[in-house]
Amino acid sequence: MIEILPIFTNSPLRNFSYLVYSNRTGEAYCIDPFDAKGVLGYARKLGIKIKGILNTHEHGDHTQGNLELKEETKAIIYGHKDAKHKIPGLDQILKEGDIVFSVEEESLAVWDTPGHTFSHLSFVRKNPKTVLGIFSGDTLFNVGVGNCFRGGEPNVLYDTIRSRYETLPDSCLLYPGHDYWENNLKFAEHIDPENKFREEFQTSLQPYQVSEMGIEKKLNPFFRRTTSSVKNRLEELQEKISDDRSVFLTLRKLRDNW
Ligand SMILES: [Fe+2]
Repeated sequence: MIEILPIFTNSPLRNFSYLVYSNRTGEAYCIDPFDAKGVLGYARKLGIKIKGILNTHEHGDHTQGNLELKEETKAIIYGHKDAKHKIPGLDQILKEGDIVFSVEEESLAVWDTPGHTFSHLSFVRKNPKTVLGIFSGDTLFNVGVGNCFRGGEPNVLYDTIRSRYETLPDSCLLYPGHDYWENNLKFAEHIDPENKFREEFQTSLQPYQVSEMGIEKKLNPFFRRTTSSVKNRLEELQEKISDDRSVFLTLRKLRDNW
């Protein structure tokens, strides 16, 4: 099976890098290297060899370890075609449906998931039956979604969340590009005040906890668009909402200004 090591970087941006690897072959890929030395240290400890660097998107906090890691490991750097001149050291283009890594029955496949930027990929770990986990970059976070300030578009993010992320099974694990639990839970308290599940959950929350899509569907205001808790609150705030899309866009706007 595919093994996963989340690497939390204790910077103000609270980035996550990930090592995805096989214990059997020792082959490894690093998703969004932030601190190359830290990643190398973990790879050495695990006795694995980094063959590739996978960038979810072009923002510097997801690619800043690229060149150093490539220099040390001779790994190939992969990313979206539209990030060609923005990702340092990019060697190979990935597109929707590509398989980057397989171990026995499991594989790591590419989804093209625009919204946060127009050159954003997500990586799904799957077996023939189901999706086991998703590396969401800055598309979906715990209890939130990515902003669209730097090269994105909220309407497109809505389409990606609705048509891709909402189809994931409840058991699918979520591996986001940042740990934003704390702030996002505060916004959720503000915008989704009657969510009983959140109260129960908050008491059991561990730092850097890996969440499941089933939990996200119950916690994340961007997934709880149709609930009366969210809709009543938006009405109270005198926000004009009509269809499902308008609720999503209003939540994104409020979170931007919160
Ligand atoms: Fe980003």
